[in-house]
Amino acid sequence: MQSSDHQQITHRYNGIAIGLHWLIAILIIGLLMMGKYMTQLDETDAFRFELTQWHKSFGISVLVLSICRLVWRLMHRAPPLPTHMPRWERAAAGATHVFLYFLMLGLPLSGWIMVSASPLNIDTLLFNLLKLPHLPPFAEMANRAEIAELFHTVHEMASGVLIVLLLLHIGAALRHQFVLRDQIMSRISFDFKNPGTKDGLGLFAGVVVAAIAGTMLFNTAINAPDAVSRQSGAEQGVATAQNQVNFTLTLLGENLEGQFTESEIIVNLDENNIAQSSLRASVVTATADTGTPQVDNALPGADWFSSDLHPVADFESSGFSRIDDDTLKVEGMLTIRETSLPISFPLVLNRQDASASGGFTINRLDYAIGAAEQPDDSQAGFNVLVEFEFKLP
Ligand code: HEM
Repeated sequence: MQSSDHQQITHRYNGIAIGLHWLIAILIIGLLMMGKYMTQLDETDAFRFELTQWHKSFGISVLVLSICRLVWRLMHRAPPLPTHMPRWERAAAGATHVFLYFLMLGLPLSGWIMVSASPLNIDTLLFNLLKLPHLPPFAEMANRAEIAELFHTVHEMASGVLIVLLLLHIGAALRHQFVLRDQIMSRISFDFKNPGTKDGLGLFAGVVVAAIAGTMLFNTAINAPDAVSRQSGAEQGVATAQNQVNFTLTLLGENLEGQFTESEIIVNLDENNIAQSSLRASVVTATADTGTPQVDNALPGADWFSSDLHPVADFESSGFSRIDDDTLKVEGMLTIRETSLPISFPLVLNRQDASASGGFTINRLDYAIGAAEQPDDSQAGFNVLVEFEFKLP
């Protein structure tokens, strides 16, 4: 009896190795199903876009956990295999395990390379918390579209090989458990009566909690300069007031609505001499908010609003005329990224609640918005609808 207890303790993996094994296993099986499902959806389906963001977050988690598992494995000896196991089976198990490690690292890496090289330049926000940088050599290559395509194929083929290896691995485990009944599965199963397992689990839970806390702290730290710069924008006198400036853009065939949370509209309306009226409006481009973190992170970027260089987009009227009692025609210059173009739009007066509203459509390429990253409209449409409403003085 004593000797069988001894066997149990020394012939098992410890809590950390067991915990990592099952966590990675669940994530990989989920990612394989998720990957196959999401790639069946229409490319213009916003749900596919959202699933892909989660897929990338969990995929990078597998990469991090697999590195931990590999480090553990290199620092510890695996418990010896039972002596009754034939040589061919030991060799087959060893080879399968080496291939599995190779794919646990290689598959997420191929995904990371694919999104880094992709000319779509879509940001990866891990769990909506932490921005995953694009891998530098791939993000800057001249032939990045081909590299992205190549690694897309690698990712797809590697996932196929992984499915075959997993079936072999699970098949072998089931054979040991139910045909040979030799307790091989107990080497990698949680044993809550074993104090060593409990210690390992405690440590493992600690690592997970520390990783989450670390991520949140890091996230707060990298967002701090952003908060400061937004605050300084407010100090420059760009007030929110009672204005509403909204925009609607098209992403993957779907309308996405957003607003500029900081805007200023100064209107001087002379109903008796309408031609003398004036309107000046400005928005802080970095405050564009669609509620979709990937889009909101991209919009202030160099190829889009380039908010660092051009923090404000503005409109200045040059002429007012009357269309009917409640509608005026406003003409003027719209300046975005230092490109000024003439526009005109109807301004509807709502005297009952002393407000006015209007709207116009621009072609983003006229202002070189997204011209390098999205030169065609297959992902991001050309037309952007801008609508606004403000209280009359
Ligand atoms: C162990 C981890 C991972 C597994 C098991 C996995 C599995 C898969 C599978 C099965 C597909 C569908 C392939 C197809 O049939 O076309 C897929 C697609 C995809 N994966 Fe992963 N993946 C992993 C990690 C990652 C990572 C880390 C990233 C990026 C950071 C990533 C990015 C993508 C993208 C963007 C697609 C969709 C490609 C498309 O839209 O056609 N994956 N993945």
